[in-house]
Amino acid sequence: MTLAIIGGTGLTQIEDLTIIGQERVSTPFGEPSAPFLIGELSGKKLIFLARHGNPHCIPPHKINYRANIWGLKQLGVTEIIGVAAVGGIGAEMGPAKIAIPDQLIDYSYGREHTFFADDLQHVTHIDFTEPYSPSLRQRIIQAAQQAQIDIASQGTYGCTQGPRLETIAEIKRMANDGCDLVGMTGMPEAALAREQELAYANISVVANWAAGIVEGEITMAEIEKNLHVGMANAIALLKATALFSET
Ligand code: HPA
Repeated sequence: MTLAIIGGTGLTQIEDLTIIGQERVSTPFGEPSAPFLIGELSGKKLIFLARHGNPHCIPPHKINYRANIWGLKQLGVTEIIGVAAVGGIGAEMGPAKIAIPDQLIDYSYGREHTFFADDLQHVTHIDFTEPYSPSLRQRIIQAAQQAQIDIASQGTYGCTQGPRLETIAEIKRMANDGCDLVGMTGMPEAALAREQELAYANISVVANWAAGIVEGEITMAEIEKNLHVGMANAIALLKATALFSET
């Protein structure tokens, strides 16, 4: 088993990762977001990729999700934890909370969202009933329990197109649909990982209450402050999860 972490906003690098090397991979789909860092976390070898590039400058709708997933597969990765900043919709999902979603709804559009498009020998439909790997999720949840890190152990992640934040009406609709969290990068990453038969789970870190859940505008200052706290907990959770991994 080789584990990879894809870090999102607020997690462009992991200071505790001992970097052993880096790999650049060219793919038939173009360039990944950044070089893949090969490193050790909690004494376990893993690969880290900055989803938005390093420095953080690729917006959610411009990320080459296919190149990122293809590159990880080329490097022998078998499981991926995607870390993502989100807005909180559900009552339990306040700022700095960490959640391990078990379902998702995709509201994004216009993204290259499949490997199964051209030159096919047959049409392929992946099963996506459980969009996140149940066994990888369980490992993260157990790690959180052992390390006494407070998490929400389930929730529905809604993926919007961005880069703008949502309107009050959009968040009301998402709440009606059953979304607990709203982010911009969860898809097509999860589906592409499934197409490549990679186990994939998401750690969501709440940066702000989603639009209209509390009064007032959402500010970048607020997002940065909450992410600072939330990502420190997410890193602790990643370290605890790495301890459980085999390599
Ligand atoms: N909406 C969508 N994505 C986000 C948000 C939000 O409120 N906060 C952080 N990422």
